Amino acid sequence: MKLLITGGAGFMGSNFIHYLLNNYPDYQIVNFDKLTYAGNLDNLSHVENNKNYQFIQGDIASQADLKKLKKHKFDALVNYAAETHVDRSILSPLEFSHTNALGTHELLEFTRRGQAKKMIQISTDEVFGETQTKEFFEDSPMRPNSPYSASKAAGDLMCAAYVRTFKTPVIVAHSCNFYGPYQYPEKFIALSVTNLIQGKKIPIYGSGSNVREWIYTQDHCRAIDLLLHQAETGRVFNIGTQERFTNLEIAEIILKKFNLDKSRLEFIQDRPGHDFRYAVNSDKLKKLGWQPQTKFMQGIEQTIKWYQEHQSWWRKLQDKNYQQYYQAQYKAKGLS
Ligand code: NAD
Ligand code: TYD
Repeated sequence: MKLLITGGAGFMGSNFIHYLLNNYPDYQIVNFDKLTYAGNLDNLSHVENNKNYQFIQGDIASQADLKKLKKHKFDALVNYAAETHVDRSILSPLEFSHTNALGTHELLEFTRRGQAKKMIQISTDEVFGETQTKEFFEDSPMRPNSPYSASKAAGDLMCAAYVRTFKTPVIVAHSCNFYGPYQYPEKFIALSVTNLIQGKKIPIYGSGSNVREWIYTQDHCRAIDLLLHQAETGRVFNIGTQERFTNLEIAEIILKKFNLDKSRLEFIQDRPGHDFRYAVNSDKLKKLGWQPQTKFMQGIEQTIKWYQEHQSWWRKLQDKNYQQYYQAQYKAKGLS
């Protein structure tokens, strides 16, 4: 099988490339990535000499860059390429539409022209907006609240339109929050762990009562493996674990693993538009035979160990104190 992985130099894309090369050593993989601040070829240093792996730099929203792939025909394309951080989307929203909406649209055209036999669109539960108590189903209405989730919803809606109008073979996967190795240290869990290792505090937005559902990298890779090999195209799937925690609970679990107390929490001004709670129902995927295998308490231990053992990987990415920077920017722009 020949696969195109877009955004393969980011957090989940690189985890998926490792997963594929370990589990399907005969597959040929092309990684197409723009190498934004979140794209990091260090994530793939173990596989860069693998004869079945190739990297091509490019922007999914650029037709000229996509021409670099013209001599290839793929059995499938898995789109991980995106702008992904909600705080950045509040400060620079247009970049999010460029990649998440226009870029996804270009990949749909790429698939429609037959350069890939099918496309899997990696999306997020955030497109459904927030819910106080319920779970989101695959056909729940999209009510995104941040420029990030709105731009992802735009990409997903175009996928639905291409399925219906052109019968383009696409599968959309709405996942809950990921955590694990190679996550950029601006996201909550990676930031909390790396801050504690450096003797800093965990920044908590508002009161910390916002709820997220968490999935470990390997479980997400197994879900995409199943969708790639067994799911019918034209369908939409949620990927979740039902392991839902408030941010404060997450911070307390991490503090406990470091034998630290709550004096290492820092409550900061809430994020503008902060969604209260996400929760997805994943019964449809479970009916195909998938179950998460890593409980949060086990996954977080593995994640902390990974960040402790790979300090040279993340220390060079911390060019600034992100929370101080965002707080100052929100203030400067009159958003807080
Ligand atoms: P990430 O930010 O770590 O990596 C994104 C990658 O995409 C980077 O390598 C970057 O260089 C690349 N990229 C960005 N713009 C590009 C462009 N225009 N052309 C080509 N490459 C480009 O992302 P992640 O956290 O691994 O997320 C991967 C996917 O999963 C995204 O679609 C995201 O919306 C989705 N998702 C993420 C989470 C999460 O918790 N991180 C949860 C659910 C869904
Ligand atoms: P994040 O990792 O940015 O993912 P998302 O906003 O896409 O879910 O944040 C996860 C949760 O943690 C979210 O409710 C915001 C919160 N959070 C903090 O409390 N402090 C932080 O420093 C960050 C980055 C996030």
